Formats: sequence, structure tokens, C-alpha cells
Amino acid sequence: MSATRVLTGITTSGTPHLGNYAGAIRPAVAASRRPGAESFYFLADYHALIKVQDPARVQRSTLEIAASWLACGLDPEQVWFYRQSDIPEIPELTWLLTCVAGKGLLNRAHAYKAAVDKNTEAGEDPDAGVTAGLFMYPVLMAADILMFRAHSVPVGRDQVQHIEMARDFGARFNHLYGEHFVLPEAAIEENVATLPGLDGRKMSKSYDNTIPLFAPREQLRKLVFSIKTDSRGPGEPKDTVGSALFQLYQAFATPEQTAAFARAYADGIGWGEAKQALFEQLDAELAPLREKYEALIARPDHIEQVLLAGAEKARRIATPFMAELRRAVGLRDLREQHGGKSAARAKAALPVFKQYREADGRFHFKLVDAGGRELLVSPGFASPREAGQAVAGLKAGAGARAFRGDALWLDEAEVARLAPGIEAGDVIAALEAFAGEDA
Ligand code: TRP
Repeated sequence: MSATRVLTGITTSGTPHLGNYAGAIRPAVAASRRPGAESFYFLADYHALIKVQDPARVQRSTLEIAASWLACGLDPEQVWFYRQSDIPEIPELTWLLTCVAGKGLLNRAHAYKAAVDKNTEAGEDPDAGVTAGLFMYPVLMAADILMFRAHSVPVGRDQVQHIEMARDFGARFNHLYGEHFVLPEAAIEENVATLPGLDGRKMSKSYDNTIPLFAPREQLRKLVFSIKTDSRGPGEPKDTVGSALFQLYQAFATPEQTAAFARAYADGIGWGEAKQALFEQLDAELAPLREKYEALIARPDHIEQVLLAGAEKARRIATPFMAELRRAVGLRDLREQHGGKSAARAKAALPVFKQYREADGRFHFKLVDAGGRELLVSPGFASPREAGQAVAGLKAGAGARAFRGDALWLDEAEVARLAPGIEAGDVIAALEAFAGEDA
């Protein structure tokens, strides 16, 4: 029953290439289809602004990346797929985290340090050309992760430090204000392919050696034929080790096909023939996806709709959670003061849990507000003790409870659903009243 919540962001600063596909998109789409998975994938367009200051490029990249993930089979009904800048709670949380983030820790972030080192070496001012955006990058990323209480964040090695920082900021906040955040773990996929590029170095935009994922067929063929090989002629045995061509083939082939390709290398296959085989292997997997991609990219209105619906779904979590966090730090309704008359009035208006038994013999509870309106209804529990434990858990505090859509979870089990017409925010406010009662 316990779902692991996985979250990752894709910076919208380029066009997806084969390396992104094999290293991130393909494994993420496969993982999102496993039963029990809760996957959050988002377009990190605020992060893109740190690197790219060309508005048309940010927009184009957002469209291309969204279309690529959808073409590769991501199902927006099954996952949370949204654009970071559609969630105003993310920059809001960034500020709360900024106020607990240690500046010294940020000074040590790899990307910022690299910029400073480069300036120092060049005899410049250490911060020359460094924006506060680059410096604050890890805090924005922590907000992305902590907002959705993600357990696991699949990232490349270069991002592990950022996850550690998110843990640090989350822990500091929890220490000050109570257990609100889940502390995330980085998930580094050891056996996911890192693909070589055209020149044999890691495929990367910064080396200008990429093969765009959805290059038209003819361009794909040309690029494959431009992959660097050695000068051995047809009939001479070839090395699979260190062969970019072979590694690319392997990432798109079954183990049997790969073994046959290795034998062909040993038997001296000519490079032209090997390139043709790689091209066909790639095109067999990509052609149907490319067709979907082209249809999607021609309909930006449709993609926009998908992203807006995704944002709405994500905000069903973010909006009530942000309300809880604002309250936790003291950004509160002034009538909510503890002590004095207003507290007495708040107490009089406390919601109540009502426990009851249904005809089927199972035990339930409801949360009803002071006006008699139903807020929450539980499923049937096997014993009154279990129902009572769920009620006690919900009253005890914010740490272990979370809304997932209409369902309210406590630790790793669903314990209640929103009554019709009730918003998660109403329930959180009502539950906070219990926490206030003990304070
Ligand atoms: N910084 C990540 C990268 O460059 C992108 C990103 C932004 C991200 N926010 C995130 C990744 C949150 C994981 C979780 O790859």
C-alpha cells in the first residue's frame, strides 16, 4: 500500500537528444507505469531562466520537452505532469526556505563555486557575471522537491549535492516549525545508459555532439553516419570496447541483438554497414514516437491544456500545503491568536470527529465542522481501535498526513476522503484547530 513518491524536474533550456531519452525519459516513463508508483515530472522553466535569457528559446524548449515526454508515452492522467511556473506556491515556498537556508552552504554549491573559481583564476572579481539566480538555484530546487513531499529524486550525479541541500533546508525548517517536510533521497540509477555522442565523449549539449531525439529520418541517418570510428577497413575485426557506435546500438537493442552485433564486430563488419544497422535500430524505436511528436508539436493549444490541467492537479496538493506552511511560520489570520477571547471562540467552533458503525459491521468516522457540515468521511475499518488510531493520528499534527487528490493519507495508508464539495484547504484548517488546541 505504501507508495513511493518520485519527483524530478527537466530544465527547459534545450531540445531533447538521444542521451536524455535513454538516460531519463525512457526509464522515467517505464517507472511511472509500475503499479503503486506516484510520479511527479515537471518542466523546470524557472530554472531555465538562470541559464537562458532568450524568451523564444525558453518557450520553444518548453513546448519541445513537453511534446517529447508525451510522445514517449507519459500518461498525464496517471502522473503529475506540470510546468513549474504554473505553481505560484513554488516561488512562495522558495522564500520561506531562503529564510532558513545557510548562506555558507550555498557558497559551497558546485555550480556557484565553479563560477567563482573561474573568475578567481582569471583575476576577476569572484562574483563577476554571477547572478543571484545561480546562487539561489539550490533553494528553488529544494522548494520543487519539498512542496510535494517527494521521497525519491532520480537525478544525475551532478545533482546529488542539490538533493542534500534540500534535505538540509527541509530539516532546518522542520526543526523550527514542526515536521512538515519529507526529507528526500537522491536516486542515482547506476545501470541507466549514459550515451556517447558523435565524437565519443558523453552526449551533451555543451560538447555539441548530440543527436536530437526527434531529428527527421534523413537527418538521423546523416548524423549516425557522422559518428567517429577508427580507420579499420571491412574484414578487419573491430573493438566493441570504446566504440560509440556499439554503445549506442546496445542502448536500443535486446541483449540477443547486441550479442549478434558484437559477433559482427569480431567478424570485421565494415563501418558503413555497422552504421546502417545502428540507424535502422534507432529508427525502428523512434519512428512511431516521432510521428506522435510531430502531431503533438503541431498542436501547442493541446499541450497547453495538458499542462494547465497538470498544474491544477498539482495545486490540489500545493495550495493546502502552502496554507499549512504559512500558518506554521506565523503568516496567520490575526483572529487566530492563542489566548484571550478569540481563542475561546475558536475553541467553541472546533470541528468534531464522529465514530460510527455501518450495517456491514465496519467502523467509520466522519469529521464534521461546528456548523454540522461533513468535511471528511473514512473508509470502513475492521475494528473501532483502528478507526480511533486514525482519528488520533489526524489530530496529532501535520507531520504524517497528506492529501493525495481527494484522499487523505496518514503515514502510508489512506484514512479518509473529502466529503463532496469540500476542499482540502478547509480540512487542513479544521485539523490545525486541533493542533492549536494542545499548544
Ligand atoms: N536541476 C535539475 C537539472 O539540471 C533540474 C531540476 C529542477 C530538478 N528542479 C528539480 C531535478 C527538482 C530534480 C528535482 O537536472
